[in-house]
Amino acid sequence: KTTQRFKFSVGLKKVTRLCHTKQLLTVNGKFPGPTIAVHEGDNVEVKVTNRIADNTTIHWHGIKQVRTGWADGPSYITQCPISGGKSYTYRFSVIGQRGTLLWHAHHAWQRASVYGAFIIHPRTPYPFSVPIRAEIPVIVGEWWNADVAAVENEMTRYGGGPNSSDAYTINGFPGPLYPCSTKDTFIQTVERGKTYLLRIINAALNDELFFAVSNHILTVVEIDAVYTKPFTTKAIMIAPGQTTNVLLTTNQHPADPSGMFPMAATPYLTTIFPVDNSTAVGFLHYKQPGKFRPKAHLKPPNKFILNNLPKIEDTAFATNFSASLKSLASPQYPCNVPKKIDKRVVITISLNLQDCPSNKTCMGYEGKSFYASMNNQSFVRPNSFSLLETYYVTKLGKAGGVDSRFTAGFPEKPLRPFDYTGVDSLTGNLNTEFGSKILVFPYGTNVEIVLQGTSLLNKENHPIHVHGHNFFVVGKGFGNFDSAKDPWKYNLIDPPERNTVAVPTGGWAAIRFKADNPGVWFVHCHLEEHTSWGLSTAFIVKNGPGPNQSLLPPPADLPSC
Ligand code: C2O
Repeated sequence: KTTQRFKFSVGLKKVTRLCHTKQLLTVNGKFPGPTIAVHEGDNVEVKVTNRIADNTTIHWHGIKQVRTGWADGPSYITQCPISGGKSYTYRFSVIGQRGTLLWHAHHAWQRASVYGAFIIHPRTPYPFSVPIRAEIPVIVGEWWNADVAAVENEMTRYGGGPNSSDAYTINGFPGPLYPCSTKDTFIQTVERGKTYLLRIINAALNDELFFAVSNHILTVVEIDAVYTKPFTTKAIMIAPGQTTNVLLTTNQHPADPSGMFPMAATPYLTTIFPVDNSTAVGFLHYKQPGKFRPKAHLKPPNKFILNNLPKIEDTAFATNFSASLKSLASPQYPCNVPKKIDKRVVITISLNLQDCPSNKTCMGYEGKSFYASMNNQSFVRPNSFSLLETYYVTKLGKAGGVDSRFTAGFPEKPLRPFDYTGVDSLTGNLNTEFGSKILVFPYGTNVEIVLQGTSLLNKENHPIHVHGHNFFVVGKGFGNFDSAKDPWKYNLIDPPERNTVAVPTGGWAAIRFKADNPGVWFVHCHLEEHTSWGLSTAFIVKNGPGPNQSLLPPPADLPSC
C-alpha cells in the first residue's frame, strides 16, 4: 500500500478580487487550495499546521473514514480544533471509492475560502469507453469582500440572515460579468474534437448552483465519487458539497476568431432571503491549429452568449436533473442499497423563529431571531470537547454509550405532525428546542431517513450531508411524505449513491444506508448559514462484534480542547 503525504499550512494571504484586496484565509497561500490527488486504496496523510490565531480543522468531504473517525474533521464533533501554531496529521485510507470529492475547512465559516479538490484515481479503467484527452477540475466557490468571520458573527449576534457573497467564482476567478474582473477569468485551453472529463465541485457556502457550457452538451458519468448511468444534459444542478463528473466533447467550430465558449455558474434559487444571484463565467478556449498563443495573452472576448443555463428558479429543471441520476449498478460496480430496513427515522427540516433574547436586537423576521432545526431540535455544537472523544473515553462499548453532555433520544419522528408544505408556514410549528440530542444505531443497522422539507418561513432546497457513510437516494417527492404509499414507489434497483442530497423545496427525500462505520457522525445542511442556526444532528454507530468492526484508538497527536 502506498502512503501519500501532503502538507497543509492554513494561513492568511493577500488576495485581490473585484478590485478589493484582503487577507484571505488559504491553504499554502492558494485560492482555491491545493488539489489532493491519490489512487483508490492509498493511505493518505495530511499534516495540517495552523498559522492563524483562530482555531481550524479540515474535513475530507465524502471520504468514508472507515474506522478512522478521528480524521473526519468537523470541529467539536470528531475532534477539538487545531489551535494557532499547532499541527495535526489526518491519517486515513481511501477504500472502495474513486472519483471527485472535495476537502474544506470545517470550523466556523472558514470553508468560504479554504477548500480544494480531492481526486481519487481509479485502479481499474473508467466504465465509459471514450478516450479522455484531459481532466479538468472546475471548482465553483465564492468571493466575499467582507471578512467572512465578521459576516458570521453579525448573523448570529443579530439573529438575522447573513450578507451574501460578492461574487461566485470558477477556480477562484469571478469572470467578466463582475466589476473589475475581466482579467480574473478562468480560461481552459482545449483541442477541437476531443473528450474532456470535467470534475465539477460546488464549494459555495450557501447556494445551490446551475452549471453549463455554452453550445456544449454534458454527459454526467459520476456524482460524489460514484459512477452513474451516463446521461446527457444541457446543464447540471449541483448543491454545496456535491461533485459531478461530466464528459464534454469539443465538437464546435470556433464561433469567432477567439474561439472562446463561456462556461457559467449561477444559483438555483428558491429562497426569499437575500442572495447573490449573479453569474460566474469562465471560458473554454479552442486552440487554433498551427497557432500558438501564450496563456498570459488569453483574454475573455468582449461579447459572448450564455446558453444552456436554466433560469434561476427553474425547479422543473432541477427536479428532472436529479431524477435522471441512477447508480451504474453493473456487476463490477454493484448498487448495495439496503432492500429491507431495520429503522425508519422521519426528520423535518425547517427554519424557525424564536423570540429575541432581551440582551439582543434581532434582525430576523418580525424582530425575532432565526434558527433552523431537524424535528424542531436546534443542534447546539459543544465548544469545549468533541463528541467522538467524549464518547470514546467514557462509554464506548458500554450500555447507554453516551456522555451526559450530549444525549441520545433525538426524536425519530416529528414531534407534532402538520401539513409541512402547506400555506400555514408562518403559524405552523415554528418553535425549536436547543440541545445536543443524537441518534444511536447498533452496528449494521439498515437505516432509512426520510428528510421532510417544510415551508416554515421559506420554501428552500436543503442539501443534507451525512458524514462517514454514503447513502442511496431511494425516493423523492413533493408535498408530505406518506409512509403508507410512498415507499412502494422507491427505486431499490439503481438509486443514486451519494453523500449530500438536495431535499426538494416543498418536498421530501428518502435515503438508505447500512450504519456500519463505528463512530460519531455529523448530519447537517450544507448551507452554512443553516448549520449555524442549528440545522444538524449527529448519530453514533456502535462497535460491531467482528474483528474489523470497531473504531480505532485516537491518534497520539489528536488536538485537545
Ligand atoms: Cu462538507 Cu460536514 O461537511
